[in-house]
Amino acid sequence: MNRTIANIIIDIIAAFLFLGMIATGYLLHFPLPPGSNKTLSLWGYTRHQWGEVHFWISLGLLVVLLVHLVLHWNWIVTVIGKRCHLVKTAHPSLVRSGILTASVVILMITLFAWAAQISVKETARPMRGRHWGQISQINESLVTAPVQSSISQENVEFWQDVYPIFENYCLSCHGPQKHLANFRVDRSEDFFGSNGRDPLILPGQSSISPLIAIVSGTRKDMSMAAVHKLSERNIALLKAWIDSGAEWTAKTGVKK
Ligand code: HEC
Repeated sequence: MNRTIANIIIDIIAAFLFLGMIATGYLLHFPLPPGSNKTLSLWGYTRHQWGEVHFWISLGLLVVLLVHLVLHWNWIVTVIGKRCHLVKTAHPSLVRSGILTASVVILMITLFAWAAQISVKETARPMRGRHWGQISQINESLVTAPVQSSISQENVEFWQDVYPIFENYCLSCHGPQKHLANFRVDRSEDFFGSNGRDPLILPGQSSISPLIAIVSGTRKDMSMAAVHKLSERNIALLKAWIDSGAEWTAKTGVKK
């Protein structure tokens, strides 16, 4: 095959792979944002599977770029090498400079992969708290499951047991993106009656805290009452937390 045609074909493949990277990157950022893996799918693929597609396209692009470099190696060594004063002779050895460059590139890739591998840390999984176990996946069954006696005021911890409830069942409508009723569950003050509204939580008194009336469905004039109802277990956790003083400790790294 003619050298020019080979170059053109390689460039066209590279362009398509590059566009594929952009397109799948877009899908992973906008239509299937982080956290949507379990709930959304697009053209039959979940976020996780699109991530795989993204990865393999990027690997293909890497290969094509390498082929591109090889096809232009003569030019790269003579023109760029001379301009950067790396090449002194008139006819530098292509093989030697190729091996040298490949070694540097492989070394950098290896160092990067190694640094990434050893830096992976386990993060605290809010849904896998002491009381939750693996239950998060089968939350529906909790609606009817008896409330376990393990819930007591002493071992309810806000970030582990309480905030995940708000995060899972409220944040989509009352968070940074949508804040219906101008109420946000990621702002503690919205619960405790600053901002000129009545408090939703009366620390130590879950039985008269409006929040409990909302999530247990006893408040009569609540709009979208069904959306606001929580499982027995989650209500019990909220009650235990309120009765233990409703402490909302500051936490760094929580989106405001
Ligand atoms: C599907 C969307 C949606 C979800 C999820 C949701 N809400 Fe709401 N919430 C609404 C709507 C709609 C209103 C009424 C807005 C209005 O009246 O302007 C509302 C109003 C409220 C209000 C204000 C009530 C008042 O006094 O007017 C509170 C407090 C509230 N929600 C708490 C929660 C909590 C706590 C959760 C999680 C358990 C939650 N919401 C989940 C849609 C939602």
